Amino acid sequence: MKFTEYPIESLMYITNRPEIVFTHGKGSWIYDNEGKRYLDFIQGWAVNSLGHCNEGMIEALEKQARTLINPSPAFYNEPMAKLANLLTQHSCFDKVFFANSGAEANEGAIKLARKWGRKHKDGAYEIITFDHSFHGRTLATMSASGKPGWDTIYAPQVPGFPKADLNDIASVEKLITKKTVAVMLEPVQGEGGVIPATREFMQQLRALTKQHNLLLIVDEVQSGCGRAGTLFAYELSGIEPDVMTLGKGIGGGVPLAALLAKADVQVFEAGDQGGTYNGNPLMTAVGYSVISQLTAPGFLEGVRARGEYLRAQLLALSEERGFLGERGEGLLRALLLGKDIGNQIVEKARQMQPDGLLLNAARPNLLRFMPALNVTNDEIDQMMSMLRSILDSL
Ligand SMILES: Cc1ncc(COP(=O)(O)O)c(C=O)c1O
Repeated sequence: MKFTEYPIESLMYITNRPEIVFTHGKGSWIYDNEGKRYLDFIQGWAVNSLGHCNEGMIEALEKQARTLINPSPAFYNEPMAKLANLLTQHSCFDKVFFANSGAEANEGAIKLARKWGRKHKDGAYEIITFDHSFHGRTLATMSASGKPGWDTIYAPQVPGFPKADLNDIASVEKLITKKTVAVMLEPVQGEGGVIPATREFMQQLRALTKQHNLLLIVDEVQSGCGRAGTLFAYELSGIEPDVMTLGKGIGGGVPLAALLAKADVQVFEAGDQGGTYNGNPLMTAVGYSVISQLTAPGFLEGVRARGEYLRAQLLALSEERGFLGERGEGLLRALLLGKDIGNQIVEKARQMQPDGLLLNAARPNLLRFMPALNVTNDEIDQMMSMLRSILDSL
């Protein structure tokens, strides 16, 4: 079908989209309405952890769709219980609440922290967050985010989110007052440009939050579920946070997110938290398939190996072209271009013939790579060779 034949005019304008319609995908490849294929290093924005149309997920979705789609969040269902149990078995957390998006999981974390503050810290409610952080698009999570300009678009903001600088413990310490209840951060800032919190900083944060009796909340919506090479990125720093949020990769492409907490932090009482679709069996059955595949023997070792391979290729390219290096964890990486040519590269990559390449410039001076966690080294080689030919053409 031609692009002009799709009734796109009924869609609300929210961003500039290219004049293509994606129709189907498999693994690391996605196809448009003209039949052109693209090597996908965006994967739904770090969402399709197992690539497009993973067989295990399809099987789980089909089976669950024929069994039970939604009994209402007021009742238990089997996939919800099984997925929660799988997550607690593989993490330092004891309790799980399922949500539908990363922002909603973060809203839950903010509410849990504020309730905990009311119960245990004399009504303390402020959550220290970080410059350039990204926590979502609801009013509270936009206020928690340190994205430039977000303080004014929908002003007034939700109060209570003072901003510190990532990897600068003194900047956090300075903001602690009697009103502070928690510190919340992404172990790897994703939208901010793939900036990892250092191991040292995470350990300092854990010690500081313990010293002041504050909660440590990790937003692992982007860095979690295998993306950083470990099941959860907090594992890289050898600490245990009090609260964690998951999104994106947990559903492998379907809308699923989660809020996890240690038992002693779980202070919700009946009616405090909920939502129509929370823990619905259709999505949690898929999440169970995803997390089971990620935790299968050898899978995460493979992610680390492929992450190292991608890292080596990006470093070699950086040296060859005089760029500023690369950074990231696992299969969430950035190539530091040193100049604002990121968006130009992204456009040219998509328009390449005969095959296109989907890349993202999280900031104009860098490229972000977030392939499927089961991407192959051959596909990484193909991506690198396409990228080289784009750079040659600039
Ligand atoms: C770290 C982080 N937190 C929260 C979100 C928001 O997730 P969602 O778009 O599912 O609401 C994102 C999305 O990019 C994210 O990267």
